[in-house]
Amino acid sequence: MTANDPTTPEPGPSLVTPRLVLRGWQVEDAPAALAVYGHAAVARWLSPVMDRVPDLAAMRLLLQQWIAESARTALPAGRWALERRSDGHVIGGAILLPLPPGNEDLEIGWQLHPDTWGNGYASETTYALAGWAFRHDVDEIFAVVRPGNTRAAATVRRNGMHWVGETSKYFGLTLQVFRLRSADLDQAAPNAQLPPAYGANGPERRT
Ligand SMILES: CC(C)(COP(=O)(O)OP(=O)(O)OC[C@H]1O[C@@H](n2cnc3c(N)ncnc32)[C@H](O)[C@@H]1OP(=O)(O)O)[C@@H](O)C(=O)NCCC(=O)NCCS
Repeated sequence: MTANDPTTPEPGPSLVTPRLVLRGWQVEDAPAALAVYGHAAVARWLSPVMDRVPDLAAMRLLLQQWIAESARTALPAGRWALERRSDGHVIGGAILLPLPPGNEDLEIGWQLHPDTWGNGYASETTYALAGWAFRHDVDEIFAVVRPGNTRAAATVRRNGMHWVGETSKYFGLTLQVFRLRSADLDQAAPNAQLPPAYGANGPERRT
């Protein structure tokens, strides 16, 4: 399966990392998802591409949309809920999606509940998702960061992503672009201080 295979009808796989399960969204995740996507400290960095989600009904609707879209998304791409293995809580979400308008560049992005920032969960997610994409014929992935989003900028640098430059070609916004290639990911693991149990072959795949 490759990014060029538009017939693939299934969502991305679940990936298991030392502390997280990256899995498809379910409508039942709405309360946990609202705690993230309804949080001003998260939404400020997603706007205007995505507005702050105002209530549970809106979150349910959005999750239904994401689930339907994921079923149509050609792999390797998609949206994942990040479930913490220690307690089963959904602590955020991550995406690997084609960047408009060209839909050729693949963007990685994360949205974590602020209570969970500072634990390396975005880095652990990056290593898992990027590794998965690179094993599916993807050569490079990009992160686009709003100027001033210092946490996101630190995350991309921590994970070996390289500065490309500033652009306004995506979403009509001025954004800082960072690129990750397969060789960069190999260097990123130690820099990201991933837990020792993290295998050289990347995350275990859960079927
Ligand atoms: C961007 C965002 C995902 C970053 O979250 P984060 O927790 O800071 O990211 P990381 O996973 O890289 O964690 C790094 C921090 O965890 C610490 N850490 C602890 N254990 C760690 C481990 N095992 N591995 C790596 N880092 C670890 C690091 O020292 C670092 O701490 P510091 O920020 O105090 O220096 C988060 O701030 C967020 O959701 N923001 C709102 C949405 C957003 O802006 N998304 C990005 C759009 S481009």
